[in-house]
Amino acid sequence: MPKDPDNALQAGPRHVAIIMDGNGRWAQARGRPRLFGHHAGARRVREVVEACPRLGIKYLTIFAFSTENWKRTQVEVAGLMSLFRRYIVKETNTLKNNGIRVRFIGDRVRLDAKLTELMDTLERETQDNDLVHLTVALNYGGRDEVARATKRLARDVAEGVLRPEDVDEETLPKYLDTRVLPDPDLVIRTSGEARISNFLLWQSAYSEYEFIDTLWPDFTAAELERLCLNYGSRERRFGAVPA
Ligand code: FPP
Repeated sequence: MPKDPDNALQAGPRHVAIIMDGNGRWAQARGRPRLFGHHAGARRVREVVEACPRLGIKYLTIFAFSTENWKRTQVEVAGLMSLFRRYIVKETNTLKNNGIRVRFIGDRVRLDAKLTELMDTLERETQDNDLVHLTVALNYGGRDEVARATKRLARDVAEGVLRPEDVDEETLPKYLDTRVLPDPDLVIRTSGEARISNFLLWQSAYSEYEFIDTLWPDFTAAELERLCLNYGSRERRFGAVPA
């Protein structure tokens, strides 16, 4: 499709996924506990979500807690869980009234009942919204997601709902947590680390990546706009040769 040179954002990413890294280092640089950085990071989420409609971002997926993050100290894990609960309570009305549809991906089994109840409520309260689809990855790991999806797929085969010979590239995504979402066009990781750390492994096969030095609590809507414009100026070929 030809790009409109006067509106680079038109060619920008529709689905942006973000690995929000660097909260701990941001706090440590200020002589404060790591949780101070997570709280500052949570405030950035709001600014980024609010910028999405203007930037043409319809889907935003953020990595809030990975299946590996349980290895952190008990104080940090408990602090993050409490932050998620408080964030949901505080932001539900704003999200609902601003057209944001919220979904959670990841394995809920290990999360506490109070938190999963709040997650269910937020998903329900915002289910009619369509301006921006915000997906929060919580206790999420790409390999864990593929393993859980495979288990469900195997169960369907065992029950005769699915024939092994019908399994192809289109089948597995229907069992992933992200089954109703398009694949991400652009994956951003903050804080200077060039790793994907088990995030959206299947879904990001053809995504563009941006690894930037900014620590997540310093990330701004202006920086997101710059990355979207950068994306719009690149051509994605999905393995094909240019026409
Ligand atoms: C990575 O920084 C960040 C996390 C593991 C948590 C991300 C959580 C938030 C931004 C809080 C709010 C999210 C929501 C949805 C309310 P890090 O601790 O690994 O930083 P470091 O690499 O500098 O140690």
